[in-house]
Amino acid sequence: MDLQIKGKKAIMAGGSAGMGRATAERLAEAGVELFITARREERLLVAATEISEKYTTSVTPIVADSSTEAGRRALFEACPDPDILAITIKPPPPNGSFLDVAPDMWRESIDTALIGPIEIMRNYIPVMIEKGWGRIVNIATFSAKNPMIWRLMSGPARSALINYTASVSREIAQHGVNINNLLPGMFSTEGAAELLPIYAAAFDLPEDEETCMNHFLTNNRIPAGFVAEADDLAPMAALLCSPLSRFIVGQNIVIDGGQHASLF
Ligand SMILES: NC(=O)c1ccc[n+]([C@@H]2O[C@H](COP(=O)([O-])OP(=O)(O)OC[C@H]3O[C@@H](n4cnc5c(N)ncnc54)[C@H](OP(=O)(O)O)[C@@H]3O)[C@@H](O)[C@H]2O)c1
Repeated sequence: MDLQIKGKKAIMAGGSAGMGRATAERLAEAGVELFITARREERLLVAATEISEKYTTSVTPIVADSSTEAGRRALFEACPDPDILAITIKPPPPNGSFLDVAPDMWRESIDTALIGPIEIMRNYIPVMIEKGWGRIVNIATFSAKNPMIWRLMSGPARSALINYTASVSREIAQHGVNINNLLPGMFSTEGAAELLPIYAAAFDLPEDEETCMNHFLTNNRIPAGFVAEADDLAPMAALLCSPLSRFIVGQNIVIDGGQHASLF
C-alpha cells in the first residue's frame, strides 16, 4: 500500500528504540524526510545511521528530552515545519504502593507524559494548520483506558493526554490536521526490558526476560497468545500518519492482543 507520504517531513519524538524506532522505520520506508529524538545520544546516533542506510533516506538525530523546555526547543529549532508528528516518551518507572506516590513523583509523571507531548503538539499545530495538512500520533499506553494500580506514574497522565486530544483534534480537523492516539498493551521492547528488574523483584522472579514474560502471560490473559513486537504497532502508526487516515479523528486505538475487553 502506498502511504502517499513520500517527501513529507516527519518527526518521531522518541525514535531511537522500541515502538518509536519501529514507527520511524515504517515512515522512512514510506520515503519521508525523518527527524528522530531521544535523550540518550549514543543509541540515537546508531538508530539514525541504521535507518538512513537501510531506507536510503535523510534521518536527522536530535538529542532532546521532550519533558523539558530546553529539549523541546532543540527539536523546534532542528525541525520547525513538520507535516507529520509522532510522539512517545518513557514515563517514570512503576510505583510501589499508591501510598508512596508523593507530589514530586506526580510532577515528574505529568511533565513527561502529559506536558511534554502537549507542548510539542501546541508548537506544531499552528504550522500544520498554516500548511492545511498535518498528522499527529501519540504512542501512549493502554493503561490510559485500563487503570493499573502499579502504573500510576504512566496511566493517569495519559488519561489526561487522551482527554486533551479528544477535544483538540475536533477543533483542528477542519484544517486537515488530525490527531489520534495508539494505546499499546504488552510489547517486548528495550523499554520493557529495562523494567524487568522491577517486575522480577515485585514477583520474586529471576530477572531473565523469558521467565518474566511467561509469568506475565500466565497471569494476564492475552487472547492473541503472545507478547507483541514493536512492529506490531508501527504499521498502524504509519497509516495514521498518512493521508489515508483523513476520516479518523481523535481516536484511541488499543493494540493489546485483545487483553482488555471494552466496547469503547
Ligand atoms: N513496552 C510495553 O510493554 C508498553 C506497555 C504499555 C505502554 N507502553 C508505552 O508505549 C510507549 C513506548 O514504549 P516502548 O516500550 O517502545 O519504549 P522504549 O523501548 O523505552 O522506547 C522509547 C523511546 O523514546 C525515547 N524517549 C523516552 N523518553 C523520552 C523523552 N522524555 N524525550 C525524548 N525521547 C524519549 C527513548 O530513548 P531515550 O530513553 O534515550 O530517551 C526511546 O527512543 C511508552 O510511552 C510506554 O509507556 C509500553
